[in-house]
Amino acid sequence: MNNNPFHASIISQLSELTELETGDISKILQGPADARMGDYSLPCFSLAKKLQKNPAQIATDLAGRFTPDAYVQRVEATGPYLNIFLNRRAFTEHVLRRIHQQGEDYGNSDAGKGKTITIDFSSPNIAKPLGVHHLCSTMIGNSIYRMFKALGYNVIGINHFGDWGTQFGVMLSAYMRWGDSMPKDFTVNDLLGLYQRYSREMAEDESMAEEARGWFLKLERGDEIAREHWNRFREVSLKEFERVYERLDVHFDSYAGESFYNDKMDPILKRIESAGLSKISRDALVVDLEDYNMPPCILKKSDEATLYATRDLAAIEFRKKEYEFDKNLYVVGADQRLHFQQLFKVLELLGDDVWKKCYHIDFGLVLFKAGEGYAKSSTRKGNLELLDDVLDRAAELALGIINENEKKLNFETSKEDIAESIGLAAVVFGILSTSRQKDVKFDWDEILSFRGRTGPYLQYAHARQASIIRKHGSEVTDEINYERLDDEEEFGLAKMLNELPEIIDRAANDFEPHIIANYLLDLAAAYSTYSQDSRRHKVNSEDEELSAARVLLVSCIRSVLQRGLWLLGIKAPQQM
Ligand code: ARG
Repeated sequence: MNNNPFHASIISQLSELTELETGDISKILQGPADARMGDYSLPCFSLAKKLQKNPAQIATDLAGRFTPDAYVQRVEATGPYLNIFLNRRAFTEHVLRRIHQQGEDYGNSDAGKGKTITIDFSSPNIAKPLGVHHLCSTMIGNSIYRMFKALGYNVIGINHFGDWGTQFGVMLSAYMRWGDSMPKDFTVNDLLGLYQRYSREMAEDESMAEEARGWFLKLERGDEIAREHWNRFREVSLKEFERVYERLDVHFDSYAGESFYNDKMDPILKRIESAGLSKISRDALVVDLEDYNMPPCILKKSDEATLYATRDLAAIEFRKKEYEFDKNLYVVGADQRLHFQQLFKVLELLGDDVWKKCYHIDFGLVLFKAGEGYAKSSTRKGNLELLDDVLDRAAELALGIINENEKKLNFETSKEDIAESIGLAAVVFGILSTSRQKDVKFDWDEILSFRGRTGPYLQYAHARQASIIRKHGSEVTDEINYERLDDEEEFGLAKMLNELPEIIDRAANDFEPHIIANYLLDLAAAYSTYSQDSRRHKVNSEDEELSAARVLLVSCIRSVLQRGLWLLGIKAPQQM
């Protein structure tokens, strides 16, 4: 509860009374969980030494000298705590006016002004369809992207897709053999089939591996035919990826895939060599990391082919110069932890401080309910390892639920559109409401429920509020009588609404979208309790003054839910 004039005024009065710096007071002033302890509470333990009195005496003394004002209604000493009770009417008014006036901008700040953050996310390998695991990187990355935008950072979303490496030797070799039998407008699935067939046969036939290596070298050296086919693989794949990104409403500022760094690796390799960090080991050029309990970071193979790590090093160099980032984030699964540790260590050994600005934002697996336990793919209804299949399944199940509840639900658009939006919300919220490093556990019935801690539940709460506002008829205004929003629950809701800016700040800086997800669930639950008591809290009634006051509250909650869902990359339909 730190971003309001109430907090600031309390701190300044306490600082005067204690003759301590405002910063010191701010550090210890808390918003206690138990409302009986007031809205703010000052634990006086750490003041004892400076003020030469025991904590309980300090609390009593401050309680006697603190002057209630426009912000504070009263204070009281409870043992070693000074408990402060806000002027509730003034607080609610302050919060609701602010949200009403700022609208979609509420929660934004300029904390990141002038600072740049690069986020490498999604970044799939081409010539393969997107898998469920890509959904995590894509949606966690997208949410972190949106949060930092809200904090005023200059954010650069980068899709560092994998379009380079020895596997393209395999791909080319396979295409040269069997490409003629492919459909003219082949897809990534066809490419995957080709790749798998070649890999299978290559296991029996060593010469095929040799042939594949040859093709990759040709590609690296710019051979025209190799380039032409490879380009086609790339285009087909990117088109497919873009279709899925469109579906998920995810966008990138840069599509610089691995091949982009093909001609940008020499400078960093030279730096590593001249720093004496690299050596030849088993014909490969490596940086030995034995002293740090890591396997060597391989930069070049015996045939001169570069590696994933080499291209990542070049990419850091490039991003550093191009964007002058304050932070460079990688939203990539936990299985690549070692890779990033190696990269950052090589930079550290180079004496380049840039590693301190680089973060590997890792995450766990997506598991599906299978019988008693959870498995990597959902076997109950077919194999669901592909991202598209998971989204299709979610939309299909959502449509089923809609059809069952047709009488209760209302739509502004087609049923299918709403089902798509609910299905995606279920999946995306399922991922983002789990703390990042834990495995995501999907039980279809659970994530699609309108009652549980789910995305559809939040969408439904939001749509119901929108409907109450529509029914109200006249325009929502903040020129209301705030005395009419005077009960415990209304004050409680105002306090929760006031939290959004801090929640965004914390979620962004911890790289944890689940902080927002859980905040929204708590807010929706508090509203649900409030609105269930319709005898006391009916919004639209004969009493116009009261209706206008309550509809403002509902409108502010709706607006915060919508904003919160947006930060998670989830749509909030007006009607459901
Ligand atoms: N293409 C890689 C994969 O699918 C992920 C790339 C992540 N980004 C990076 N700069 N290494 O596993």
